[in-house]
Amino acid sequence: MTVQRVFHVILFVISSHFANIVEAKPPHILFVLADDYGYNDIGYHGSEIRTPNLDKLSGEGVRLENYYVQPICTPTRSQLMSGRYQIHTGLQHGIIWAPQPNALPRDSPTLADKMRESGYSTHAVGKWHLGFYKEEYLPNNRGFDTFYGYLTGSEDYYTKSRCSGRNMCGKDLRDDFKPIEPNPNEYSTEMYSKRVIDLVNNYNSTKPMFMYLAFQAVHAPLEVPSRYTDKYAHIKNHNRRTYAGMVAAMDEAIGNITTAFQANGMWDDTVMVFSTDNGGQILAGGNNWPLRGWKASLWEGGLHGVGFVHGKALQRKGTVSHELLHVTDWYPTLVGLAGGSLNGTKPLDGFNQWKTISEGAKSPREILLHNIDPLFKPAGDKREGSPFDNRVRAALRWRDWKIITGNPGNSTWVPVPTSEEDNFNIDDDTSKQKKNIWLFNIAKDPVERTDLSDVYPEMVNKMLFKLQQLNKTAVPCVYPPMDPRSNPEHLGGWWGPWET
Ligand SMILES: *[C@@H]1O[C@H](CO)[C@@H](O)[C@H](O)[C@H]1NC(C)=O
Ligand SMILES: *[C@@H]1O[C@H](CO)[C@@H](O)[C@H](O)[C@H]1NC(C)=O
Ligand SMILES: *[C@@H]1O[C@H](CO)[C@@H](O)[C@H](O)[C@H]1NC(C)=O
Repeated sequence: MTVQRVFHVILFVISSHFANIVEAKPPHILFVLADDYGYNDIGYHGSEIRTPNLDKLSGEGVRLENYYVQPICTPTRSQLMSGRYQIHTGLQHGIIWAPQPNALPRDSPTLADKMRESGYSTHAVGKWHLGFYKEEYLPNNRGFDTFYGYLTGSEDYYTKSRCSGRNMCGKDLRDDFKPIEPNPNEYSTEMYSKRVIDLVNNYNSTKPMFMYLAFQAVHAPLEVPSRYTDKYAHIKNHNRRTYAGMVAAMDEAIGNITTAFQANGMWDDTVMVFSTDNGGQILAGGNNWPLRGWKASLWEGGLHGVGFVHGKALQRKGTVSHELLHVTDWYPTLVGLAGGSLNGTKPLDGFNQWKTISEGAKSPREILLHNIDPLFKPAGDKREGSPFDNRVRAALRWRDWKIITGNPGNSTWVPVPTSEEDNFNIDDDTSKQKKNIWLFNIAKDPVERTDLSDVYPEMVNKMLFKLQQLNKTAVPCVYPPMDPRSNPEHLGGWWGPWET
């Protein structure tokens, strides 16, 4: 080797080392959360609804096919923002209703707090639904530099208003803390994506960006501009057709947003996560076929989520992951990507899954508590000698095994409706049933057709014991009565904080 050659080699080593350092700059994070988006509503799961942008992005990234969320809205968002199970935040039961004085507790930093602490500029656009009865619970006081969106759930896509409780109605749209007058001609999917695009186009910070976009789409009410349903004239069922249009609008919005990131030279440095918050609502156009059950149940149709990750930072692009992942995992995973530290949090229930997603490593997660809900009406009889009160609504995953106890809720398999008629006459009243223990091997039977609880009584006991161990760590469930002081009538017409 000549001296010159040696010199070149040394230069190469130094510069590639330097490149690694440059590469280690934390990426922008774009986290897109869809609302009530079903398992069978995305193109790559074989849906009749076309999602070209989601298909392309997920195809270039890593599709998560063993990924779990919670069966309803507030619970998933609370676990995303805290990295902690509902049994550890007191939000085990239901959602936070607009008039309820309840919120994600302030005893542990949120994901946004941590991203900000790690040097990010932090932005929330769209739905909050983690409590607002005091100003200290609004997104701007939970780690977000900016917020543009709404605090409750299931509002109108145009008027941005919703009624809750006993005829309490109000508008629900804010720019940071400030209530703003909704434009009734603006469809929320376009409005929120426009806000994200504005933030991206005007981005002049040297900090990496954490963008949390929680779409209103594709939750009820079923509303969409007709240009999105035109191409779905062949879908006979009215709800499904409207829903397909809502999905098309969301998919287009995501295309627009990625284009803006590209145009501003930010896309190559962005890691994008896409996730639903829970299974599809079959009463409002959603579908989870071939999974069992739907939104609000502990069956796979309620909590086996659609999700993927996109980004140059992924080492194995264009792959499908079958490793067990859960919504609580985003907290340590994203703080890890940000180069932050997990100091100062209450014990996390999530795992850093970056190697799992990026490199196809084995998931560190063996156990996944779907939930234990102490307030849900108990079902059936307690089994003699059971370590866990099996009348209680609960579900737990351990490796490939899943146990469900109590009343799991909506329990049938619902195909896509093919006629004008909606298939809602489903005989699915689970409230009177006595059976209250099911056991499945989810890897072999992802659609929960074969209950194995009689075949493997020892596994049932083992799983009940694990449930009991987790239950011992639970904090009391917080579910206060509706507070009439929340009435927007007393608050200038908007839903907002009513206590100081
Ligand atoms: C996407 O961008 C186009 C072009 O600006 C716009 O007309 C359309 O409304 C946008 N779609 C959504 C859903 O925001
Ligand atoms: C960056 O953006 C902020 C907020 O939009 C603005 O106030 C500031 O003047 C901008 N700075 C530069 C250097 O453009
Ligand atoms: C974590 O540690 C950093 C550095 O010491 C500190 O600034 C930050 O406040 C800590 N975070 C929490 C949530 O305790």
